Amino acid sequence: MSDNLIIFDTTLRDGEQSPGASMTKDEKLRIARQLERLRVDVIEAGFAASSNGDFECVRTIASHIKDSTVCSLARANDRDISRAAEALKPAARARIHTFIATSELHMQKKLRMTADEVFEQAKLSVRFARNLCDDVEFSPEDGYRSDPDFLCRVLEAVIKEGATTLNIPDTVGYAVPELYGQFIRNLRERIPNSDKAIWSVHCHNDLGMAVANSLAGVTIGGARQVECTINGLGERAGNCSLEEVVMAVKTRRDYFGLNLRVDASQIVPASRLVAQTTGFVVQPNKAVVGANAFAHASGIHQDGVLKARDTYEIMRAEDVGWSANKIVLGKLSGRNAFKQRLQELGIETESEADINAAFARFKDLADRKSDIFDEDIIALMGDESVTSEAEHYRLLSLSQHSETGERPHARVVFAAGTQEHHAEADGNGPVDASLKAIESKVQSGAELLLYSVNAITSGSTESQGEVTVRLQLGGRVVNGVGADPDIIVASAKAYLAALNKLQSKGERVAAQG
Ligand code: KIV
Ligand code: ZN
Repeated sequence: MSDNLIIFDTTLRDGEQSPGASMTKDEKLRIARQLERLRVDVIEAGFAASSNGDFECVRTIASHIKDSTVCSLARANDRDISRAAEALKPAARARIHTFIATSELHMQKKLRMTADEVFEQAKLSVRFARNLCDDVEFSPEDGYRSDPDFLCRVLEAVIKEGATTLNIPDTVGYAVPELYGQFIRNLRERIPNSDKAIWSVHCHNDLGMAVANSLAGVTIGGARQVECTINGLGERAGNCSLEEVVMAVKTRRDYFGLNLRVDASQIVPASRLVAQTTGFVVQPNKAVVGANAFAHASGIHQDGVLKARDTYEIMRAEDVGWSANKIVLGKLSGRNAFKQRLQELGIETESEADINAAFARFKDLADRKSDIFDEDIIALMGDESVTSEAEHYRLLSLSQHSETGERPHARVVFAAGTQEHHAEADGNGPVDASLKAIESKVQSGAELLLYSVNAITSGSTESQGEVTVRLQLGGRVVNGVGADPDIIVASAKAYLAALNKLQSKGERVAAQG
């Protein structure tokens, strides 16, 4: 059995299924590029047949990513598989990932198909996919709750049809580590041609055991691919978290004895980018990527770490990409210094015109904020509510008045396509007044589900505020993120970013529907 563990990232597909985490094509491409820098083996870029938008996302990522395999999900039918193959055409290395549910519950209640019909469809779909692509992954959805005898029959058949990876999802996060590991081991032992494919684990985190289950699937079950997401992003309690699996395998190499291709120093930048893009903030005590993951507060711990780091540290913060908040640039920094910092941060720009536009925004920020940190630059580059001409709604200016004992009032000027709107409103506070002013013109009717503010660089009131706004309209949930030293402006940007997402994302087929 191989000593290499394949890291299959599904942040852009399963992670994006999390309500509110939907991303635009540009955002997905930016994350895909960071995943490539992180050197993940496989990037699941989306579900090409679910919507024209997702098709475009997969195709765009397939044409830009060269160093990781690019994969599209497809239900087990010819149309989905053809769409996936079409979207993946530009890829240097492509994979089609086809799936069908195999548990009694899903077959009867959801698919309304007999076991024999599911068996035939799985076989034919893998055969069809293999005619279009050499690299085909098959997943029996709700695999862990499926009858092992039936699963053996299906998996043996799809290997014969040429499936190169077999993935066993714990779709509802029901497994416990030892049993999940044994479940996979049992399948591998019973299926005569099991050594012809790579086995993979895909665990959801409903009982908080996704990472433990995935690792048991590797150690006990013999799986050599782990499916995971940055920050554990995903529906409900999320997916197996990439950073935790990677650092467990690297830190305890003595136990796992497995090699990874991943460049761990890109973990924190990836985590920040995903959090900033989706608005799903990382809890401070989250392993590896939480703000407190390497902070030693108690006197005894601080004393120990100063004397010898390994008294209380099992990993080095810099090895996973943490860098101390450094003042990197300021008001007097020139275009070349800015451009070089973008390169050092791995932020790619399409053209010199893009750099000029970004530099203008940087100068604007530096006029209002004396010290510019890496985190500020990353937020600046990701802020499309004001940067992208392609965005429908864009903030042009905002002024507000609030005084003790008086009702706050806001005036907002924003663009909607080529039209300029001037809006005014009162509110309970200046944020409320600003969002009400925008809504008075847009009249989206969206319900505000979440409003949260975070400091981009902690420890100072000079930090930029990063605001996340979650809106719901007609069953769709979207997040918008905005950053600015003025949190009222950041709030207006976040609200407009969420409205842009509501406007741009069309209807899509649910991946597990
Ligand atoms: O959780 C799941 O079952 C999935 C499959 C589509 C692989 O995400
Ligand atoms: Zn899943």
